[in-house]
Amino acid sequence: MHFLTLDELSIDDIYEVLHQAEALKKHKPLPRPDLYAVNLFFENSTRTKCSFEMAQRKLGMNVLSFDAGTASISKGESLYDTVKTLEAIGVDVAVIRHSEERYFDALKDKVSTSLINGGDGMGHHPSQCMLDLLTIYQEFGGFKGLNVTIAGDIRHSRVARSNTYALKRLGANVSFSGPVAWRDPEMEEISFIEMDQAVQESDVVMLLRVQHERHAFGENFTKEAYHNQYGLTVEREKKMKKNSIIMHPAPVNRGVEIADVLVECDRSRIFKQMKNGVITRMAMLQYVLAKREETKHELIN
Ligand code: NCD
Repeated sequence: MHFLTLDELSIDDIYEVLHQAEALKKHKPLPRPDLYAVNLFFENSTRTKCSFEMAQRKLGMNVLSFDAGTASISKGESLYDTVKTLEAIGVDVAVIRHSEERYFDALKDKVSTSLINGGDGMGHHPSQCMLDLLTIYQEFGGFKGLNVTIAGDIRHSRVARSNTYALKRLGANVSFSGPVAWRDPEMEEISFIEMDQAVQESDVVMLLRVQHERHAFGENFTKEAYHNQYGLTVEREKKMKKNSIIMHPAPVNRGVEIADVLVECDRSRIFKQMKNGVITRMAMLQYVLAKREETKHELIN
């Protein structure tokens, strides 16, 4: 049993994980020292990697250290052989972040280690999506009819893709905002609005980092020009709806997608999102481990 994209989860499964994350705020789970986890990050990460490790430790699991820079992948070993090695030595859960979209398709039916996708190139980012859903759920108590604008580098963002599909399934109205050059032809059906309109209509303004590593930003805009035309400026924030919130998966380019002073303003849920990242990932790990144990039980009987 793996956790690769949100498409594999039913709406009930999504709510189950959200409710479990909330429950973890009150009840400490029984430690699981019998379980072994490893985090394989082949793309940079601070939040996702550290909060998965925090989640694993809070669940009382053992966490193996793995450094992509010194692992045998840099001697030319494939991802498949790396994961098979970890399976052979007894790893129960591997969280993987890799630049190749859907890297997990080549692994998912061939390993008994449970895989959790920590981000696949421009593809999916299920744990960010789940923690974003939890943050919205805590704020508004549901998703139906909420206006969510996802703004910025849509085309190169796995966060945009995961959140758009999940929020739509849950009944939210999703719009995009940002430069025409970064629209995604695969998500043409989503309406595009200017940032000035987005701030007035949205319950959630979700900003995205400009994905410098996936394209050359400087060719299209200067940072100031981007901020003024597409960013959340101090003036625009003043026009936001009462009780509306600002989100951003981070890392933030302060002064580009969002004005520096707004990162920690009253409406901002940016650090709340990070905090929610730990309980969400604990709930995701528990969900995967429970399904894994169910499957083992079925095989025995
Ligand atoms: C996001 C990612 O890696 O896709 N960051 C994260 O996991 N918090 C967003 C980004 O890098 O812009």
